[in-house]
Amino acid sequence: MVKNVKKASAAVIGSLHQFTEDEVVTVRQKLLTWYDANHRVLPWRTIAATEPDRSKRAYAVWVSEIMLQQTQVSTVVSYFVKWMAKWPTVEDLARATLEEVNQVWAGLGYYSRARRLHEGAVKVVKELDGEFPDDRDSLIQHLPGIGRYSGSAIASIALGCGVGVVDGNVNRVFARVRGIGADITLQSTTEHMWTLANQLVDSDRPGDFNQAMMEFGATVCTPKNPSCNSCPLSVHCVSHHRSGDQQERASITNHFKKRKMPSESSAVPDIECLPECALCLRKEDWDSSLGVQNYPRKAQKTQSRQKASAVVVLQGNSGEMLLVQRPKKGLLANLWEFPSIALTDGDSHQEKEVTEQLINQFAVPSSLSSSRIFVADVIHIFSHIRQTYKVYKILLDDQKGLTWPSRYQGGQWMTRKEFVTSATSTAMKKVLKAVEVSEEKNKNEKKMGLVEKSPDTKKQKTISQFFTAAPKKK
Ligand code: ADE
Repeated sequence: MVKNVKKASAAVIGSLHQFTEDEVVTVRQKLLTWYDANHRVLPWRTIAATEPDRSKRAYAVWVSEIMLQQTQVSTVVSYFVKWMAKWPTVEDLARATLEEVNQVWAGLGYYSRARRLHEGAVKVVKELDGEFPDDRDSLIQHLPGIGRYSGSAIASIALGCGVGVVDGNVNRVFARVRGIGADITLQSTTEHMWTLANQLVDSDRPGDFNQAMMEFGATVCTPKNPSCNSCPLSVHCVSHHRSGDQQERASITNHFKKRKMPSESSAVPDIECLPECALCLRKEDWDSSLGVQNYPRKAQKTQSRQKASAVVVLQGNSGEMLLVQRPKKGLLANLWEFPSIALTDGDSHQEKEVTEQLINQFAVPSSLSSSRIFVADVIHIFSHIRQTYKVYKILLDDQKGLTWPSRYQGGQWMTRKEFVTSATSTAMKKVLKAVEVSEEKNKNEKKMGLVEKSPDTKKQKTISQFFTAAPKKK
């Protein structure tokens, strides 16, 4: 089974980076034993283990996997519980509106995931009679946003299909255990990882095995400070051998020497690999201070783009704030946000001009712009964008006659309580938090008499005061 594989591209892969038949059995068993003793009890796991209805299991695992795509397990749990209480079946979800779905999703980020879940539910009900597809390939074919990873996870966990999974955690475990130091983002490296996953998966307990791999990566073979001392796989681990002390190295070398290579293999049954191997870490890339953390090898980071925009919190005299709804398509589609306008180069000299432009779009007279208070710079990292929001607040005592820029679907005045339960992005929640912190700070400073009573700070000007002539001095 294990060969030095020569691909059409002539890439050579040493047997070190593969599992022998004996190792497949041992490593699989060790991981399942570890999982049985250490796994977290999670609501979707309970449903997968106890729900007799195949479609209901698939629905629950599908929701959990989509939520887990860019979010940590600990954050997902409460969202998952709330979601399943509101929409226990795919039919319930299909009947919901996108607005309701976005509301329950609010705070998880990457809202296109919520939209796809809703779209998928409608599809399952309308096109598949409410029955989920029953294998990985049909899941990928029928459900929007389902690729190889999610399809394999749902198929194995909910439907018992014997397919492996590879996510970031699994990549790291394989890279370390098999000493795979090639760029993890290369297609050839990815394909090798999937081959290992499909080879190792336990056909009797595929869902448990795959979750064991992911959980082991998330809690033992962690990106930083992995728990090598208590790791059940350390004797099989190439990276542990490379970074261990003499005694550890000797014991692992012995273990590798005993690897039973298939008779047709020309590989040396040793920890050394072939000089021309495409998956080895190059000698010059080894950093002895990093130890096992030399694996996986990260691709060169592309610099995240910097963007800036001005945001205005327009607040009425009872405290309600103007929110506008983003376009139906694109980034953060349909979400409610404070009106904003992009600063093209983030230059501060441009900022005043642009916020005035923004205020004008709402038909607030330009004279009012001098009443704005700068609140704070709020920074939010989207996956590849570092976004700075320059936050301003303006108090209005007359909300009538305001219009909103045409790029928005509409506007709505919301109380702070309504804001919390609306479909708003994490970035906008940060903006409101900054406003509240600044209000609190002002209040405390006033209480302590720290605020100088200059004409400007005595009382915040409201819109009508701008148009009321100041009383003449006697
Ligand atoms: N990450 C994604 N899905 C997971 C699961 N079911 N268990 C643990 N980690 C995961």
